[in-house]
Amino acid sequence: MSTLPITATRTLFPALADGTIRLDGPGGSQTPQPVLDAIVDYLVTRNANLGGVFTHSQATADLLARTRAKAAAFLGAASPTEVGFGFNATALNFTLSRGATRAFQPGDEIVVTALDHDANIAPWTQAAADLDLVVRKVGLNPDSTLDMAELAAVIGERTRIVAFPYASNGIGTATDVAAIVKLAHASGALAWADLTHYAPHASGNVAQLGVDVAICSSYKFFGPHLGLAYVKQSVAQSWAPHQLPHAVHAPGAARFEHGTLPFESIAGLSAALDYVDSVGWEAITEQETVLGQRFLAGIPSGWQLHGLPSMVGRTATFALTLPGHHPAEVAKHLAAHGIAASAGRFHAGSGFDALGLPDGALRIGLLHYNTEAEVDRTLSVLAMLSQG
Ligand SMILES: Cc1ncc(COP(=O)(O)O)c(C=O)c1O
Repeated sequence: MSTLPITATRTLFPALADGTIRLDGPGGSQTPQPVLDAIVDYLVTRNANLGGVFTHSQATADLLARTRAKAAAFLGAASPTEVGFGFNATALNFTLSRGATRAFQPGDEIVVTALDHDANIAPWTQAAADLDLVVRKVGLNPDSTLDMAELAAVIGERTRIVAFPYASNGIGTATDVAAIVKLAHASGALAWADLTHYAPHASGNVAQLGVDVAICSSYKFFGPHLGLAYVKQSVAQSWAPHQLPHAVHAPGAARFEHGTLPFESIAGLSAALDYVDSVGWEAITEQETVLGQRFLAGIPSGWQLHGLPSMVGRTATFALTLPGHHPAEVAKHLAAHGIAASAGRFHAGSGFDALGLPDGALRIGLLHYNTEAEVDRTLSVLAMLSQG
């Protein structure tokens, strides 16, 4: 048992009332009522663009400033100017990677990892194709952790960026962010983190860990569809953005924001950050650890877990296969029993390839709003399949 008031917590999420067991959190979390209310309230009471002298426009500017400050606290940034908003993590990464590489020289190197989502690989391979850069991909140890010896060996004097995830969205394995940052900085490279999968599970602490750039999407942590980026102030100022003339000189990460922002989503994000604060990281991680341990201890025989066998060094995101059954068939079986869990490679194919899983896996993703009863029910449906 954890100390999280689970019944009261779940009551806040109207979508959980339909009885479906939601294990698709890594694809996107559900949304609490205060976030829904904040989106509607913005559109009803303050909807306006920036730059006006009237109340609604000024209220929108105020909302943007306050949410930037809250997002900075959420990410662990030193200043609100280190936070930028965009369409989603992928779009922000394409934009930021273009800014970062604009002054790179042919032959400069970027390191990525086999734990990364394509959103933190494709922007680099595509920039490399345009600018004659070199991308090196670091592999995994057999237990699914990042091969840190290979990482250390691959980083060299031409390395300009080390791109890596806080945790894999496919198999849940977390990385040692501080150790990666240290390796990157030792050779003068930027530490470029994908926080997207990790963000609903624990605090990112970007500045404390020394990360230079981090991206994530708010719909993974109980907010609306909206991307967030952390860019260290000195780093943001050193790049020339592809930007409209009026915004080229915006401070910090805002230099990379394009056009009119989705203010109703920013209102929703503000409420989502309040929600996370109200629950607290301690209660969130405690609940996920309890649920994750229960799930791991109960995996029925016949099923194979791909990834770390305990809750140490991972999120409560589990990749499973049942020999003789395609992951998509297994996901359909779960759906028929009222369990929403996806199967496949989740745009994180490098990790599945490294583990010898060309078809990917069934992904069971637990968030703090899941219950022990849901874990037990899921295990019993998995057992139905493995026991024929
Ligand atoms: C680790 C990780 N990075 C990046 C992304 C891309 O996020 P978005 O589709 O919001 O851009 C995802 C989405 O699942 C993800 O899990």
